[in-house]
Amino acid sequence: MYPLRRNRRLRANSAIRHLVRETILTPSDFLVPLFVVEGHGVKEEIPSMPNYYRLSLDNLGKEVKELWNMGLCAVLLFVKVPDNLKDNKGTEALNEHGLMQRAINTVKSACPDMLVMTDVALDPYSSFGHDGIVANGQILNDETSEILAQMSISHAEAGADFVAPSDMMDGRIQIIREALEDEELTNTGIMSYCAKYASGFYGPFREALESAPVKQSNVPLDKQTYQMDPANRIEAIKEAHMDVDEGADIVMVKPGICYLDIVREIKDEVEVPVAVYQVSGEYAMLKAAAEKGWLDHDSVMMEQLISIKRAGADIIASYFAKDAVRLMG
Ligand code: PBG
Repeated sequence: MYPLRRNRRLRANSAIRHLVRETILTPSDFLVPLFVVEGHGVKEEIPSMPNYYRLSLDNLGKEVKELWNMGLCAVLLFVKVPDNLKDNKGTEALNEHGLMQRAINTVKSACPDMLVMTDVALDPYSSFGHDGIVANGQILNDETSEILAQMSISHAEAGADFVAPSDMMDGRIQIIREALEDEELTNTGIMSYCAKYASGFYGPFREALESAPVKQSNVPLDKQTYQMDPANRIEAIKEAHMDVDEGADIVMVKPGICYLDIVREIKDEVEVPVAVYQVSGEYAMLKAAAEKGWLDHDSVMMEQLISIKRAGADIIASYFAKDAVRLMG
């Protein structure tokens, strides 16, 4: 008798589809990136990221309360630093009254249980727009790592739960871990961007923070000497293992959709949670297509987020977090 097995029985109606669904998104899967600026009452839309904003501290407080009430329980903070405070060494990053340090405080005061992760890298503070110190056309590794460790201590002292180094310097996880231990900041975790690719998808983010590499002679205009080559797979696994060995509590793959093969492989290789960053360009791309009426925003958004989770993400950093949670009802 033909056929003995009919797979469509498990797709016949929404009840059975729900019953056999393998991957379920929940609000607690999300890490919400937030852009913070100086000022009061500021809520500026980022031109290439429709419906996403730079917020001043007062609005940041309101935003995190709203997120918490929606079931979103973790944020990833980025700051936009005024140009006059930028230099080659990111001096402002260590200011204990700097914007990041105040932002951490603002979130914790508004919403004490909100998990706060902070971006650790020099680019928002760098007059060259690089993630490290620039000298003779090179991005210095070890000198940068020392500053990242100081920055991590400063964020931890301000109340950050996790620091998230997004710079891709070699060996920095160990240097940061040791520095935190030395300061008895033993409860502060590290989420390492272990497989961060040199991607064209970061454009809107660099616009949001005005942090793109600056055109200047003898300074590289791209980040290919530290971020990974999109062509490489085995190297990503090596990076993940090394960061776990150095003390990373969580590892991250970035961007998302183009790199889901890497997500699955790293998930199968390491025993720490894996985060995926669905980056600004991925957000911009869908918003633009939806604006033109070329794609259905909500269905494509959910399909992408489910795919990221199915690939192995334990945590999803996404600008769509609020849109998605609203849709989950
Ligand atoms: C820089 C940093 C970048 C992003 C997060 N941290 C940009 C870059 O490496 O140039 C990108 C995030 C996004 O595009 O959403 N340390």
